[in-house]
Amino acid sequence: MTFNPLRERGIPLDRQVRNWRELDVTPIDPDHADPYTRCRIITMNGIEIESIMFSHHFARRCPDLGVRQRLAEVRYVEQQQQKAVNWLLPGLASVLETTIAYEQVAVDLTAWVARMEPDPYLRKAYEFGVLEDFDHLYRYANLYEMIEHRKAEKIVDQLTEVMPGRPTKMHHRHPVDNVREHYDREKAKPVSKLHALTIMSAEQQTMNFYMNVGPTYMEPIARQLYQEIGLIEEEHVTHYESLLDPRETWWEQWLNHEYNECYLYHSFMETESDPKVKAIWELHLNMELEHLRIAAEQFREHDGRDPEQVLAPTLPTPVTFEPNKGYLRELISTQIDHTTLGTGYVQEAHERFQRWQEQVHDDVEPASERVIDDNRARSGEEYRLEIEGGHPLYSLRSH
Ligand SMILES: [Fe+2]
Ligand SMILES: [Fe+2]
Ligand SMILES: [Fe+2]
Repeated sequence: MTFNPLRERGIPLDRQVRNWRELDVTPIDPDHADPYTRCRIITMNGIEIESIMFSHHFARRCPDLGVRQRLAEVRYVEQQQQKAVNWLLPGLASVLETTIAYEQVAVDLTAWVARMEPDPYLRKAYEFGVLEDFDHLYRYANLYEMIEHRKAEKIVDQLTEVMPGRPTKMHHRHPVDNVREHYDREKAKPVSKLHALTIMSAEQQTMNFYMNVGPTYMEPIARQLYQEIGLIEEEHVTHYESLLDPRETWWEQWLNHEYNECYLYHSFMETESDPKVKAIWELHLNMELEHLRIAAEQFREHDGRDPEQVLAPTLPTPVTFEPNKGYLRELISTQIDHTTLGTGYVQEAHERFQRWQEQVHDDVEPASERVIDDNRARSGEEYRLEIEGGHPLYSLRSH
């Protein structure tokens, strides 16, 4: 069934504001919820946060009072949506458990997007990034076992494998090498723009989360690991945001943001297994349809073009959380030793990469390595180093 969000009627904006009772959502059950329900919640929280921060940045750059007022009205509703969505997470989960869930999102959402992305250059950006978050999941799983004495499999529930990807130590690159070429707003397929916005938002939320929760741990190794991986999330946000065409007008960006929210709420409404959560996705979709109508109205008036010229005529294939184990193993066996050089990718430890590595590591073994050694020493066994068929030894060709 085709769904064109531009043709659908949503809830009028003045009826979207919730009272305290309506905002007081019941959290999911931490022991029985589908891990992918939690992944959808985390994804939508990242999307709402991006919609809010985008709207603030737009307002700061926009001299038109009427537009600033319209942005403020819609933004208040986006804030309430963010509260309803993120407050679905149960308060019982530890920071580290939520972290593991964030990395599960990064792995399975990015892998799915990579599989669906039609543009080869953009697809490569997702394939490259996913192998790094895959490894972060493994490092945090070791930390979790060491300080909370539990297995990450309890959280990710066999849907996502926990094992080494591209070693975290090797993710520290010169910032110049994290900037990609952007897509061309005239030529890129609408679905490519939505993918880029989605993954950028998810990574940005992870970056913000680590920046804030990292120092809440007492254990030095935990504090250090959050610092290290937090800096890689900065690299990931730079990597993904650089894919978006900066020549898109503010109005066009607003339109794309609202359209993407419609796309994702619709996708999750179609694929959600928890009926209470599904009802929230449906309600929010009906709110977003009205946000999109408002953004379209503003776009016509201030940008002068027709929304149909830049948006997809119908929603693309629903974004789906599903296991990507085979796909990820294939990527590990073919792309584990890739790094970036300028806007492209190489398999060699080029000079700028080596210099940066020497500067950040100096003579200190990074936390991402020590956490594995410490956990092995404490538990007496390797977390999981082998994959069936053998793990390809990681080595960048020396220069
Ligand atoms: Fe929203
Ligand atoms: Fe990341
Ligand atoms: Fe919205």
